[in-house]
Amino acid sequence: MSIGIVGLLRGLYMAEWAARIGLEVGAICDRDPERLAAAHAKFPSARASVDWAELLDAGLDGVIIANDFDAHAELAIAFLDRGVHVLSEAAACASEEEGRELIAAAERSRATYSFAENYVFHPHMRLVRESVESGELGTVVSVEADYLHSLSPQDTAGLIGDPAHWRGRIAPTAYCTHTVSPLLNLTGAWPVEVSAFPVGPGGDRPAAVVLVIRLSDGTLALARHGFLAGEADSHWSWVSVRGANGLAESVRASGDSAWSVRVRTEGWAQPDGQTREEVRVPAAYLVGGEPVDRMAEGTIAVLEGFRAAIEHGAAPLIPVRPAVAASLVGVAGAQSLADGSGPVLIPDVSA
Ligand SMILES: NC(=O)c1ccc[n+]([C@@H]2O[C@H](COP(=O)([O-])OP(=O)(O)OC[C@H]3O[C@@H](n4cnc5c(N)ncnc54)[C@H](O)[C@@H]3O)[C@@H](O)[C@H]2O)c1
Repeated sequence: MSIGIVGLLRGLYMAEWAARIGLEVGAICDRDPERLAAAHAKFPSARASVDWAELLDAGLDGVIIANDFDAHAELAIAFLDRGVHVLSEAAACASEEEGRELIAAAERSRATYSFAENYVFHPHMRLVRESVESGELGTVVSVEADYLHSLSPQDTAGLIGDPAHWRGRIAPTAYCTHTVSPLLNLTGAWPVEVSAFPVGPGGDRPAAVVLVIRLSDGTLALARHGFLAGEADSHWSWVSVRGANGLAESVRASGDSAWSVRVRTEGWAQPDGQTREEVRVPAAYLVGGEPVDRMAEGTIAVLEGFRAAIEHGAAPLIPVRPAVAASLVGVAGAQSLADGSGPVLIPDVSA
């Protein structure tokens, strides 16, 4: 199976893992000639191009879209219309109109659309999902997720201070998919309404935001993302699920401990009256029989899911509608932020 890659920073990392799991990288594209040349040195047999449209008729089975965060939908629609399977980085779309066009394109295409949301498949998410699915927590009532970076003000400005770069031009709420997608996946629910709050100084460009989201099953979801001091030097992702009978949440710690999950089930909810509290450590994820770097697990899972979609017509791990729904939380959140944090309805794209 031959795939192409558009955007060669994050995309190059994905290309390297794609090759390791047996996908052939047949074409690479970046509008930056230096970045393209550096990637070409790693994949010398791949067709190299500065224009993504040249990949449309390059005989590819699939394409990974890893260009600017707010510019994925146009490319995804074009490749889907050529029958090329798409794996798109977060976000899926930058507006409701674009999201609906993307859904229509995915549903009329003979190819599939998959969302490359690796945070859904990180080791701690896997353990929390197993806990929820086992029923030990009872009915889920509230879920929370953080995606936070503890960078200095100078480093933060270096990342989001340039309005010419996508990191500087997107709304402060937009990069919510690493928190919202896991929460939608854990609950199986859809987002209905969001209120967005700025954290700290920064005027209309706060470095962090809190999103309070009402889900379709009544669950309350809380998501925080951005830049806040004090966060452990871990993998920037934390998740918590409270059920009627207990709690499962990842350990807020440095290093590998942050992939572990603390589970507490209340004695008053158990037939034997015993409260149980334990810390669970995720099993290793193996590629070719060898454990891989924990931080890479989610990306590898996403790529293996993409390969299965191309090779055997497997259902995408995260298909187009939940991808668009998560992205539209960021769009509606931006509206809420502009409206002084009032609640804003999120378009229903569930059917
Ligand atoms: N899932 C994750 O863990 C993760 C991590 C990093 C980045 N990302 C996502 O990957 C995407 C890219 O992020 P990045 O950090 O690599 O950004 P970046 O801006 O550093 O790199 C993007 C690259 O794409 C190229 N590009 C942009 N538009 C193009 C176009 N139309 N045609 C050809 N090349 C084009 C740029 O020249 C650049 O080299 C974003 O959507 C980001 O959110 C995801």
